[in-house]
Amino acid sequence: MDAATWDDRYRDRGLVWGAGPNALVAAETADLPPGRMLDLAGGEGRNAIHLAEQGWDAEVVEFSEVALEKARGLAASRGVTIATTLADVTAAPDLASADLVLICYLQVPAAPYAAAVRHAATRVAPGGTLLVVVHDRDNLERGVGGPPDPAMLPTVADTRAALDGSGLEVVRAEQVLRRVETPDGPRDAVDHVVRAVRPG
Ligand SMILES: C[S@@+](CC[C@H](N)C(=O)[O-])C[C@H]1O[C@@H](n2cnc3c(N)ncnc32)[C@H](O)[C@@H]1O
Repeated sequence: MDAATWDDRYRDRGLVWGAGPNALVAAETADLPPGRMLDLAGGEGRNAIHLAEQGWDAEVVEFSEVALEKARGLAASRGVTIATTLADVTAAPDLASADLVLICYLQVPAAPYAAAVRHAATRVAPGGTLLVVVHDRDNLERGVGGPPDPAMLPTVADTRAALDGSGLEVVRAEQVLRRVETPDGPRDAVDHVVRAVRPG
């Protein structure tokens, strides 16, 4: 989907992804000392705002201006400040490096996905962390929600491969099940998480 389509999805409705952070993002960042963080394709800012509340200096990078407007409004309603930058995260935007770089549910085809992860890795400062949480390819067969197109669904190996040569050390790379309430009752979505650090 292009930026205009995402703008339409975000416009004239409440928070599409909710106000609270993704549970995996909250858990995986809880042990990190606050510093500067980049939330790439950060949507309405739920994760960046949570981290700002924990003392992080947070910047949301997005190509949907409507999402960024909502992120600024949500941050203000929670009494925190976040920076917002309008940019295509698959096109190597010029961003200052950060102690935490987050990609959460970026949904783009394989080549731009790999480009976004590769570029995200370049933005990780020495001692910093890259955290990727995305819908896994297996979600199509045994999960719920997420894009129905396999071209938009990376495997753990795809995400790891995008980090080859980045200088980052992968410390976690695996599928994680996420419980979701559906009209048919609770189901599991299949995500994957890749956490990597740049030696300090
Ligand atoms: C599923 S939403 C996830 C939003 C947020 N990360 C979260 O977890 O709440 C995917 C987001 O990626 C953004 N996006 C998709 N392609 C992008 C691109 N090439 N550059 C910047 N943002 C992009 C969309 O606008 C959308 O907000």
